Amino acid sequence: MKACVYTLGCKVNTYESEYILSKLIDSGYTIGNLDEICDVYIINTCTITNTADIKSKKIINRVRRLNPNSCVVALGCFVEDHKDDDLDIDIYVGNKDKSKIIELLDCYFTNKEPIRRVGLLKDKFENMFITDFKNRCRAFVKVQDGCENFCSYCIIPYVRGKCRSKELNTVVNEVKTLVSKGFNEIVLTGIHTGNYGVDINTNFANLLKALIKIKGLKRLRISSIEVTELTNEVLDVIKDSEIIVDHLHIPLQAGSDKILKLMNRKYDLNYFNDKLNKIRAIRPNISITADIIVGFPNETEEDFKETLENSKHFAFTKIHVFPYSIRKGTVASTMTGQIESSIKKERARRLLSLSKELEKEYANKFVGKTLEVLFEETKDGISIGHTSNYLKVKVKGNINSNTFKNVKINSYLLDSLIGEINE
Ligand code: 5AD
Ligand code: SF4
Repeated sequence: MKACVYTLGCKVNTYESEYILSKLIDSGYTIGNLDEICDVYIINTCTITNTADIKSKKIINRVRRLNPNSCVVALGCFVEDHKDDDLDIDIYVGNKDKSKIIELLDCYFTNKEPIRRVGLLKDKFENMFITDFKNRCRAFVKVQDGCENFCSYCIIPYVRGKCRSKELNTVVNEVKTLVSKGFNEIVLTGIHTGNYGVDINTNFANLLKALIKIKGLKRLRISSIEVTELTNEVLDVIKDSEIIVDHLHIPLQAGSDKILKLMNRKYDLNYFNDKLNKIRAIRPNISITADIIVGFPNETEEDFKETLENSKHFAFTKIHVFPYSIRKGTVASTMTGQIESSIKKERARRLLSLSKELEKEYANKFVGKTLEVLFEETKDGISIGHTSNYLKVKVKGNINSNTFKNVKINSYLLDSLIGEINE
């Protein structure tokens, strides 16, 4: 039988899909893609914003039209949040039992009856373990699930449940396995990654300390970390490790104290500023990227201008801009002072344009320098890779993927540094 796995949303979903893919292959399925007639389509959905909902629904409808007789499986956050919607799905799996997909498919093909596994969030970490990450040079490892922060705009705590962590030894074994398969770079992912360990009597710093000792691991990346979780202990590990990359993604969400408070964020701008100073004291050239939501209820033009000013002041390398999206069931969805869609779009455009300027400014600092690049792919005679601080680098010629090379940077063009190999 042929199965296709399609993933929307975050790196946690990407990891989970990779696990599902490996289980399908182990069980004898051949793997197809979204344009092929398959027997099974597995859509790993997302519901972080309304746009994510629309995309999830579109894909479900598209595969159903492509093969009306196929088994359509929808997994994850969109399904968990739309339990009662009338969707044309054969197997509904929310955020519990994604790891049991093969058993659920067997059950479906035996009984030919729809299956629903939603509203069953677990208290324990649902273990998945991958030993490969196909077609990628960088493997994601999920170490944690769930979030209990309840930021007022966010649906995630309702669909992902409580914080739960993968056992530390299991993470270490998974990373060791991937490294032994040739992966040089590992990205730690989670829903609230920095909160790792709260439920199993350890913490994120301990996890980092254990991982950086793994022989053969060249780069360790943290997909995203809350500013409050960059504790002195975590910063000490970062300071002393050459393996932890020169890049941190720290969601700011708003550059105004008034909005941060309405968002129920756990810090203010002073705290954020102090923490960035501490980080830059130990890693002067580090790239710091951020998520920012624009058009949150009651955000005035003045508040937004403060966000622009503070983004410049914090010298982010790149900003992931999210126009605020009302999520039913969250505190912010019932706030007065909702912002018109045209204003949200306009603010998103302005912040994105600032992000491009900041990115260029940061990247240009490296022109004339030599950087170590992990090459990932070659397209039309141009090899592409990333530096430790996650700058995209292009050089002419065919360089084997998954190899490190020193590159002398000559210029910055569009979104990439252009250079030549410096043997
Ligand atoms: N509207 C817009 N953006 C959101 N995010 C989370 N919830 C919402 C929402 N309701 C953004 C946050 C988070 C990122 C993953 O998605 O910036 O960091
Ligand atoms: Fe959502 Fe906030 Fe949790 Fe991030 S920390 S998942 S934004 S509730």
